Amino acid sequence: MADQGLRRVIVPAAGLGTRFLPATKAIPKEMLPIVDKPTLQYIVEEAVAAGVKDVVLVNGRGKSSIEDHFDVGFELETTLSERKKTSDVDMLRAISKMVNLVSVRQKHPLGLGHAVLCGKPVIGNEPFGVMLGDDMVDSEVPAILQLWKAFQKHQQAVIALMEVPASETHLYGIAAGEKIDERTIRITHIVEKPKSNPPSNLAVIGRYVLPPRIFDYLETQERGVGGEIQLTDSLAKLQQSEGLLGYRFDGIRHDAGDKFGYLKANIAYALKRPELKAQLLKYFKEVLEAKA
Ligand code: G1P
Repeated sequence: MADQGLRRVIVPAAGLGTRFLPATKAIPKEMLPIVDKPTLQYIVEEAVAAGVKDVVLVNGRGKSSIEDHFDVGFELETTLSERKKTSDVDMLRAISKMVNLVSVRQKHPLGLGHAVLCGKPVIGNEPFGVMLGDDMVDSEVPAILQLWKAFQKHQQAVIALMEVPASETHLYGIAAGEKIDERTIRITHIVEKPKSNPPSNLAVIGRYVLPPRIFDYLETQERGVGGEIQLTDSLAKLQQSEGLLGYRFDGIRHDAGDKFGYLKANIAYALKRPELKAQLLKYFKEVLEAKA
């Protein structure tokens, strides 16, 4: 089948962000900045770099600032134009033109599987991506595009995997399977947040390329871990019926949903910025010397 490209991704963004309270009392966690860009913009940029045309944002209450961020900021642009801040105006215009954002509401916080199901009316009958905002992947080839290529090659659902320490397997979906090549495995077992006896130390990271058939399973999915409708449980059913691949992507993953992970992401992305790198390294040196 000719590769038409990955056209649509679902980005669940209806969580309450309780791990970042009080910062997230009035601001969606997806809008918390990494250096000077909202975390969600990095996700959208990854999608756009992969050729995605429509980002389906699964929104909750109080999240309209996300839509505003990707909309035209008319007043701000006018004021900045009057002040001759052309590069800022260009940057803001680029954000508003970046992608076609389609919002759907998740009216009840029933879990990730339910959030993905909320995107069904927009996705239609074609393969799509799912990108979780907490997982930022810094890579040469966008992580979601790496998965799409594997999907095209094998004509099977693909999910992103990464090795994690044994002490962390209870925090993730965990998959095990048979090796196809250096990066790809045919999954034989997948379980959400195993309390004991994880099948491996390969954790599911928030990038998925799925066939529309997944919606059939999500529609009837009973609640799982935490009383929530888990995407992983429906993936297990998909694995049983038509197979599921795991792909160990190439890139550095940051967990922006965790306080320490968020701080590290800020540092890692700041170190990529020439105007900040030297100052930051100098500051680290000062801190270390003060500790010595
Ligand atoms: C979700 C998924 C889990 C996956 C994780 C990756 O969990 O349910 O399978 O391993 O994202 O970040 P959450 O972290 O939202 O609880």
